[in-house]
Amino acid sequence: MSTVAGFRFDEKTAQQLSMIYQTDDIKEMQRQYRAWFDPRPGEAILDVGCGTGVNTLAISKLVGPAGKVVGIDNSDAMLAVARAKAAADNVMYSLMPVEAMDFPDASFDGVVCTQVLGYVADPAAAIRALLRVAKPAGRVFIAETDWDTLAYSIPDKELQRKVTMSFTDHHGDGWVGRRLYALCGQAGAREIELHPYVIHNAEYSIRKYGGPLSYVIRDYLLRTGKCTEEEVRRWLQLLSDAFDDHTYFFSLSRFVCILRK
Ligand SMILES: C[S@@+](CC[C@H](N)C(=O)[O-])C[C@H]1O[C@@H](n2cnc3c(N)ncnc32)[C@H](O)[C@@H]1O
Repeated sequence: MSTVAGFRFDEKTAQQLSMIYQTDDIKEMQRQYRAWFDPRPGEAILDVGCGTGVNTLAISKLVGPAGKVVGIDNSDAMLAVARAKAAADNVMYSLMPVEAMDFPDASFDGVVCTQVLGYVADPAAAIRALLRVAKPAGRVFIAETDWDTLAYSIPDKELQRKVTMSFTDHHGDGWVGRRLYALCGQAGAREIELHPYVIHNAEYSIRKYGGPLSYVIRDYLLRTGKCTEEEVRRWLQLLSDAFDDHTYFFSLSRFVCILRK
């Protein structure tokens, strides 16, 4: 199991993330990510930190039977969810940390790594590893979040700031999003195409990202003791109240870098 700074990729997190991937916001974001990454029929793609395999499976449809997608992750629990989904003949999963990737140099047309680098100790080294396994004409697609931008609009600013600051480094470096462009340069990318992406909505519900994310945040804050039970209870109540009186708003900034070597 992967555990960083009190955040665990265990069975419960895997189920919560599966719920998050069903939200409209994440489906739309992944559609945009795939449009930028542009997987083509016949390509060999590596999905690093593939998690529950949602994106892996979607890419497998785009590369088709002549292509293949390899998904690697260092969490058994996440891979168990990925493997339990309808199997595709051109998808393979493997328990492998990015730090120990043993694929030959230049073996993939495209490498995807979304929401993973914040969890690794040396992200620049991980990006070098992603570039190594990409073919010379290939591309590496990386997306990361700036967790300091976690914004829920509720009347109690101080409480929201405490929640955001308590959660931001849940995986190690909450600034990995704003640092991504520089990290990609340090890793030796020849060309970097940058796209900002802001998830936002005005609906506090299970259908929108801010809903199920608030449960992940709740569990983390209670497990780590970073907020009291009373603060967490009040925060969730204020989110519901804000939605009821039409003042609710959620936003979070992500950054995508597409690298060429
Ligand atoms: C937030 S999830 C993202 C999953 C998927 N890439 C996505 O965008 O939906 C992060 C994933 O990275 C995996 N992970 C964390 N550290 C890793 C490492 N060092 N090597 C490989 N996978 C790692 C976790 O187990 C988890 O499945």
